[in-house]
Amino acid sequence: MEGGPSRPRSVNPMEDIEHIEKPLKLIDENGIRLDGRKFDELRPVRIEAGVLKKADGSAYLEWGNNKVLAAVYGPREAHPRHLQNPTKALVQCRYNMAPFSVTDRKRPGPDRRSVEISKVISEAFAAVVFAEQFPRTSVDIFIEVLQADAGTRCAGLTAASVALADAGIPMRDLVTACASGKIGGRVVLDLNKDEDNFGDADCPMAIVPRTGEIVLLQMDGHLSLDEFDEAMNLSIGAARRIYEIQRDALRRRYAPSAEAALAAAAVEAQAPPPPMEAPPPPPPEDPDVMREVDDL
Ligand code: CDP
Repeated sequence: MEGGPSRPRSVNPMEDIEHIEKPLKLIDENGIRLDGRKFDELRPVRIEAGVLKKADGSAYLEWGNNKVLAAVYGPREAHPRHLQNPTKALVQCRYNMAPFSVTDRKRPGPDRRSVEISKVISEAFAAVVFAEQFPRTSVDIFIEVLQADAGTRCAGLTAASVALADAGIPMRDLVTACASGKIGGRVVLDLNKDEDNFGDADCPMAIVPRTGEIVLLQMDGHLSLDEFDEAMNLSIGAARRIYEIQRDALRRRYAPSAEAALAAAAVEAQAPPPPMEAPPPPPPEDPDVMREVDDL
């Protein structure tokens, strides 16, 4: 008996990787990874600022197969009130992964991992926001991961940074994040899901590009001191490239309104000055006053 139409075999070697027990060779002898990247190559990053009308600031980011939305509200009165700090604003973050963001449906709601990621991201932003300018308020950051493919804390933080700037929150600088790690014995930049699953180490970090200050640093797995240095150099180099993408997103968002304002100012400057008004006629003279003056 002839069988029905057979399911076409996947041509993408990555597609069925979750069902393979032994890891594939993640990097070949020429230093090329499973998705074709070189050891120091970043996945494509794209950012749009100001994508949500109701939030004070927002950004949408795609980073390889990661898709992330970030929204910011504030500074606004902190609730519940007992959390208010009379000397500065609270910087609060909620990182959340949508149930449909991963292959196996993720149980909705907070878990240990999302609580941890929310905490480290809040702390990273608390280091750059001028919180003392807004006592008793909170700056609330929401990160929603719509599609996850490893590196979502870096992607979420990078998007949230643009959303904070879009909301006009005063900051010392943007924060930029990127991870490096080790696969098949080699230090590489920006691990994807398969590399994260089957690799040896993953080390996400976030920096303040203007000062070089590190505001988030975590490690999953083991790296020697030399490997750690190598990973840090890769991440710092990549963060500087991502910083430009963040700034470009903000420029694209605000350049049209800045151009419109400049054009309006130029038109105003070229317009002829309004005609001078004739001075008001002098008040009629009071004869009694004039007499008093004459008597002096
Ligand atoms: O995303 P990130 O690398 O910052 O954090 P992780 O804890 O190292 O998670 C790595 C990846 O595992 C995530 O990006 C998801 O693709 C995946 N993951 C998952 O499939 N299901 C979860 N409940 C959590 C993570």
